[in-house]
Amino acid sequence: MTKLLNYSRREFTRVASSLLSLSLLPSIASKAEISPGLLAKPIPKSNEYLPVIGMGTWITFNVGNSQQLRAQRTQVLDTFFSMGGKIVDSSPMCGSAEEVVGNCLLKTGSEKLFSATKTWTSSTQEGIKQFKDSQDLWGVERFELLQIHNLVNWRGHLKMLRNLKDQNKIKYIGITTSHGRRHSEVEHILKNEDIDFLQLTYNIVDREAEAKLLPLALEKGVAVIANRPFQGGGLPKLTRNMTLPDVAKELGCYSWPQLLLNYSVSHPAITCAIPATSKVSHMQENMHTLTGQLASAEQRDEILMTYLRQS
Ligand SMILES: NC(=O)c1ccc[n+]([C@@H]2O[C@H](COP(=O)([O-])OP(=O)(O)OC[C@H]3O[C@@H](n4cnc5c(N)ncnc54)[C@H](OP(=O)(O)O)[C@@H]3O)[C@@H](O)[C@H]2O)c1
Repeated sequence: MTKLLNYSRREFTRVASSLLSLSLLPSIASKAEISPGLLAKPIPKSNEYLPVIGMGTWITFNVGNSQQLRAQRTQVLDTFFSMGGKIVDSSPMCGSAEEVVGNCLLKTGSEKLFSATKTWTSSTQEGIKQFKDSQDLWGVERFELLQIHNLVNWRGHLKMLRNLKDQNKIKYIGITTSHGRRHSEVEHILKNEDIDFLQLTYNIVDREAEAKLLPLALEKGVAVIANRPFQGGGLPKLTRNMTLPDVAKELGCYSWPQLLLNYSVSHPAITCAIPATSKVSHMQENMHTLTGQLASAEQRDEILMTYLRQS
């Protein structure tokens, strides 16, 4: 059997069927809250469903005070919500992005929002202040997810995050990394701490997480958010002139960006991906992925082989 993905087909089938049985359990925020027919996966710790495509904000929503750019990003966010999106990811590290998201939410409304931000400071005290700032900037009292950005001072912040969870100010606790960094430390946290979410880089090129972290997250029941699904924008450029494989049609994908997103979110351990875009047309294209089918192990192999042959 080919083992293209460092992930055996037997293992794929085992985790896929455990996900299937999970999806048969009654859910808290049930699938009914997700528009019918859209691809969604359960958060393992709660069985609350999330659409598999979310939205990142780094760079794309860091547009400062320009009213024109803020109005345009409001259209991007509005498109995201109207096409079934829920999870929006930001961070105090993203310049004005949190403030701009808050400004856009005033116009789009936040009924559909699953809010995810981060703590990004080496000081535990400053972490508490950052959370209050995030509440003000987004205009939300309670965040669904608070993540420790790039593991900075994770020991200090975990205690603060647990307190916030006990006080019902956040629903889920997470950690983040990217670019394949500090995976052994992430492994240590997954093995020894009770967390709900892990965010890491996972795309058709950056697949290091398949070896240890994704199987471990599945075993521990930790939801995984794939950041940089387009490798920061490089992958759509690289694939622009590539032929689509036959499998694209079967999956309901009409473009490489959609296939790339499908590749990230069809890994059994990945709960959702958070592509970032500054354009309504790209948001429409990316969100269309939700109307298709998740690739099987064989279809993932075909996507990967087609990509490798043409790259
Ligand atoms: N450590 C961390 O916690 C961490 C680290 C990195 C990233 N993140 C999170 O992950 C999110 C995503 O990562 P990212 O922003 O670095 O990169 P990304 O989502 O991989 O790529 C974003 C780029 O892709 C382009 N793009 C989007 N849709 C497209 C389409 N359909 N066709 C062609 N180009 C398209 C965008 O350009 P246009 O604007 O022209 O569409 C943008 O330049 C971030 O925004 C952030 O929220 C977290």
